[in-house]
Amino acid sequence: MSVTLSVIGTGYLGATHAACMAELGFSVIGLDVNPSKIESLNAGIVPFYEPGLDPVLQSNLAAGRLQFTTDFAQAVSAATIHFICVGTPQQAGANAADLSQVFAAVDAIKPHLKDGDLVVGKSTVPVGTATLIADRLADIPGVEVAWNPEFLREGFAVQDTLHPDRLVVGVNGPRGEDRLRQVYAPLIADGVPFLVTDFPTAELVKVAANSFLATKISFINAMAEVCEAAGADVTQLAQAIGYDPRIGPRFLAAGLGFGGGCLPKDIRAFMARAGEIGAEEALTFLREVDQINLRRRAHTVDLARQILGGTCAGKQITMLGAAFKPDSDDVRDSPALAVATMMHNEGASVVVHDPKALDNAARISPTLTYEQDLITALTGTHLVIHATEWSDYRELDPAAAAAVAAGRHVIDARNALDPKAWRAAGWTYRALGRPTA
Ligand code: UDX
Repeated sequence: MSVTLSVIGTGYLGATHAACMAELGFSVIGLDVNPSKIESLNAGIVPFYEPGLDPVLQSNLAAGRLQFTTDFAQAVSAATIHFICVGTPQQAGANAADLSQVFAAVDAIKPHLKDGDLVVGKSTVPVGTATLIADRLADIPGVEVAWNPEFLREGFAVQDTLHPDRLVVGVNGPRGEDRLRQVYAPLIADGVPFLVTDFPTAELVKVAANSFLATKISFINAMAEVCEAAGADVTQLAQAIGYDPRIGPRFLAAGLGFGGGCLPKDIRAFMARAGEIGAEEALTFLREVDQINLRRRAHTVDLARQILGGTCAGKQITMLGAAFKPDSDDVRDSPALAVATMMHNEGASVVVHDPKALDNAARISPTLTYEQDLITALTGTHLVIHATEWSDYRELDPAAAAAVAAGRHVIDARNALDPKAWRAAGWTYRALGRPTA
């Protein structure tokens, strides 16, 4: 039986999901309310930077399995399984998630759903949302809802979609599990664990996983604070504790902390939702996780001020990186941009370099100066801050940087540069959590 899927929302999650489901052999129609995104995707151009996605998009467009449209009536009528992949950003002025895009998507597909259709939520939502959606669709006979959270990382989105660690499916009816087993059959055949749960468990799995990851990063950044006070080295500490298989080495990279469109807003929305359902106390530790994370940004500015003789005012500072992490052009809640903005507000002249994220950064922080050429960005600088660990910066020759800089001071806020090489080229090297490195 040939199955047609619709995917509503074509951001990082939806565009990747649509292309990867086509790669699995399904006929897929991607939907969005933004015509320019649809035009770009139909032309084979991914409207954001995601390594490895362009060829999957292009080959499936060429094979005729994949198309994108703004026409909800046509797409939803043609498909029988509909994946909701729209954004759930933080509400302005509050911690809770803004669900307006989710409900708008449900309302947009509702008039075109048919008996036997399955609506599958993939967006990250507060627990209880799947039930609200099922209630909203209850008057259409034979339509079922399932919840299938996504765990993809930006920069590895294709790999994480086609080779996930696990598949989680929350169901409340007879068809959800069967239909999703059919969709993911090749992955299940590859040995990917397939867990079937109720709605609230599936919704909570996603925010619990992201809270754990955020907590692990903030734990090591708290250790970095202690290392700074004690004269110890947090990178060696992380390596040593990471050998314990109960702890594990991953997500123990101390530095400027986490940002992006998921971890920060997910832990805040989780706290807000826990309060609403009477479990506030269980998550008060996440407030501390958030605070530790934000403190790393302020600490980096303190260190910069100290290195520059007490003030950032009138100094040129080069930020190496604007994206929230390497291999992404995403600047949502970017620690790098937050630090750049704080120093700009203290009177520094901040020049920001990034291999991919400058256009997005300039849109949200238009007052900073952006420079695409790395050596030009370093020319005349008094202080370099390594804020996003792109390989370009590890490969940068410290001697070439020294030749154009006005002051040879570098803060390695990601603990990823080679202190010996930078010192050998005449730089004073400071890192986070490594006062003696
Ligand atoms: C995250 C989750 O990893 C993913 O499973 C979920 O689906 C979406 O949220 P992503 O936002 O793409 O993915 O980024 P991730 O790779 O998790 O990194 C998040 C942030 O933590 C980045 O700013 C990164 O620089 C930072 N980080 C990560 C650290 O500071 N230290 C680490 O050891 C790891």
